[in-house]
Amino acid sequence: MTKVLVATEKPFSNAAIAEVKKVFQEAGYELKLLEQYADKGELLKEVKDVQALIIRSDKVDSEVIEAAQALKIVVRAGAGYDNVDLEAASENGVVAMNTPGQNSNAVAELVFGMLIYLNRNRFNAKAGTELRGKKLGIHAYGYVGRIVASIAKGLGMYVYAFDPYVDRTIIENDGVIHLNSVEELYDTCQYVSLHIPANEQTKQSINENLISRMPEGATIVNTARKEVIYEKDLLKLMAERDDLRYLSDIAPDCRDQLQEKYPDRVFFTPKKMGAQTAEANLNAGVAAAKQIVGFLENGDATFKVN
Ligand code: 3PG
Repeated sequence: MTKVLVATEKPFSNAAIAEVKKVFQEAGYELKLLEQYADKGELLKEVKDVQALIIRSDKVDSEVIEAAQALKIVVRAGAGYDNVDLEAASENGVVAMNTPGQNSNAVAELVFGMLIYLNRNRFNAKAGTELRGKKLGIHAYGYVGRIVASIAKGLGMYVYAFDPYVDRTIIENDGVIHLNSVEELYDTCQYVSLHIPANEQTKQSINENLISRMPEGATIVNTARKEVIYEKDLLKLMAERDDLRYLSDIAPDCRDQLQEKYPDRVFFTPKKMGAQTAEANLNAGVAAAKQIVGFLENGDATFKVN
């Protein structure tokens, strides 16, 4: 019997798990759950006999891949797959997939949840500021970026986007102003929302050169990955500019320092919460389960990333 492990340090909702179970029951597969595990040893033990693995931000490195002797497919239920060692997967004949778009709305909504929370001074009765009429720059126009654009327009913001991998007509057809260079985005927009993946090109790419260009009231919202910010430059600019603000769903390594020095200008969720909604759990979890069945039964490798 085919065995599937759902290994989620940050568990899916019960409703999502119930639906995932149904998909595997119908396929005649056995489902094992490893939730809220504290150490890698537990994952190494549980992956030993499974043919398929569903994860979230859980790290699947070469050690995990090598321990999973029967593994054929790992699906990252979500967008970013920087937590999976793709090379090790390929070397061991394991297909890696993600579930693009399935949790994007949840992440996009959190962008505005965090912005409004900080703009209204954490609802502490002090007068805050509004988003209407302000300029928002979307750095990378993928699934999340597109929804962020549509919400921002509903809020009456002026929306700009930079993405060298997306055709300008796609951006313009959404009523968003297309910019040709990343510098222009940071030159133009008081608010910048990051939606770039973490890879060799993007790690530490949000640096002094970009941040220092931002107009008065500069605010960066990062629901992407902590690694894309160059923390040394962020710390320097936070000290130099008392208008600069940084909000993130993935706290930087220098979180304590920032919170202590600039409590009114930073906000970090205690744990990555962007995709943590009932709807996103259901969409991403079920998509991952169906992709596994589709691959193992019919060889469908549509969302393969390695
Ligand atoms: C993603 O890449 O899909 C998001 O960062 C969500 O990550 P999570 O599944 O760990 O919440």
